[in-house]
Amino acid sequence: MKNHAFQALCFALRRWIIWPLRKPCHIVLLGGPGAGKGTIASQLSPMLGLPHISTGALIRQEIALQTPLGLSLKERIANGGLAPDDDVFDLLVKALKSIPAGHGAILDGFPRTLAQAQRLEQKLESWGIGLQSVIWIELAEPDLIERLSLRRTCTNKDCGRSYHLKFDPPCVESVCDACGHALAQRSDDHPDAISNRLALYKTESMPIRQFYQAPDKEGLVSFLQPTNANTKQEVLAMVLSALSK
Ligand code: AP5
Ligand code: MG
Repeated sequence: MKNHAFQALCFALRRWIIWPLRKPCHIVLLGGPGAGKGTIASQLSPMLGLPHISTGALIRQEIALQTPLGLSLKERIANGGLAPDDDVFDLLVKALKSIPAGHGAILDGFPRTLAQAQRLEQKLESWGIGLQSVIWIELAEPDLIERLSLRRTCTNKDCGRSYHLKFDPPCVESVCDACGHALAQRSDDHPDAISNRLALYKTESMPIRQFYQAPDKEGLVSFLQPTNANTKQEVLAMVLSALSK
C-alpha cells in the first residue's frame, strides 16, 4: 500500500476504534502457538498507534541477555513449558508501566492461564482502566503445526521479523528482507516442544474462554477462525472487523 494511503487508513482506524473510547485502549490477542498473534500484532500496532507487548518476546529477551530470570527460564521455554505466572506478570507490568500515560497496548500471549487473566483484570482495574477487546484466533491444530514447523525468525533482536518458508518466504534464503540479518528457527519450534505447547494451550489457556465469556463481559471477546488458506491481509481484515464492532 502506498504511504499516503496507509496513513489515511491508520487515521481512519484510530478515529473509529481508538479515539471514541477517550481512554487507553488495551487489546488482548489470544490463540494457540503459531496462531498468528505476533504477525497480527505487528500489523495492528502501527495502524492503531498502540505498542505491541509480547510476553514471549520479553522472555526471549531475558534469555538472550542471560539475566538471572532468563537463565532460570531458558530450558523450560525451549521445552515448550510455561513461565511461572509471577515472573511473566512482573515482566508484563514493567512493560505496561513503560508506556506513556494515556496510551493503551496490544497484548500478545498474555494472559495464558486463568490466574493471569484474573490478575490482569485486577491490575487494570486498580489503574482505573479495563480491556476493550479480546481477539481469540482459533486455528486447527494441523495448521498450527504447519505454521510453527516452517517458521523462521530474524536473529536481530531489534527486528525479530517472522517468516514462513511456504507462506511468506524471505527473498533471499535465510536472510531477513528487512534488516539483512540471518534467520533461524526458534528454540521452541522443534516437534517435542510444539506438542508440549499445544498440550498446555488446551489445559491452561482454554479455561480463559469462560472467564472472558462471563455475563459481565458481554461482547468483549471475538472468536475468529482463519485457516492457512487465508492470507495475512485477510486475517488482518477479520481482526479489524471484530475490533470495529
Ligand atoms: P510466544 O512467543 O508467545 O509463543 P506462542 O504463544 O507459542 O506463539 P508463537 O509466537 O509461536 O506464535 P504466534 O501466534 O505469535 O504466531 P506467528 O505470528 O509467529 O511465547 C513463547 C513461550 O514463552 C511460551 O511457549 C511460554 O513458554 C512463554 N510464555 C509467553 N507468554 C507467557 C505467559 N503469558 N505465561 C507463561 N509463559 C509464557 O505466526 C506463526 C507462523 O505463521 C509464522 O511463520 C508466520 O509467518 C505464519 N503466518 C502468520 N499468519 C499467517 C497466515 N495468515 N497465513 C499463513 N501463515 C501465517
Ligand atoms: Mg508470537
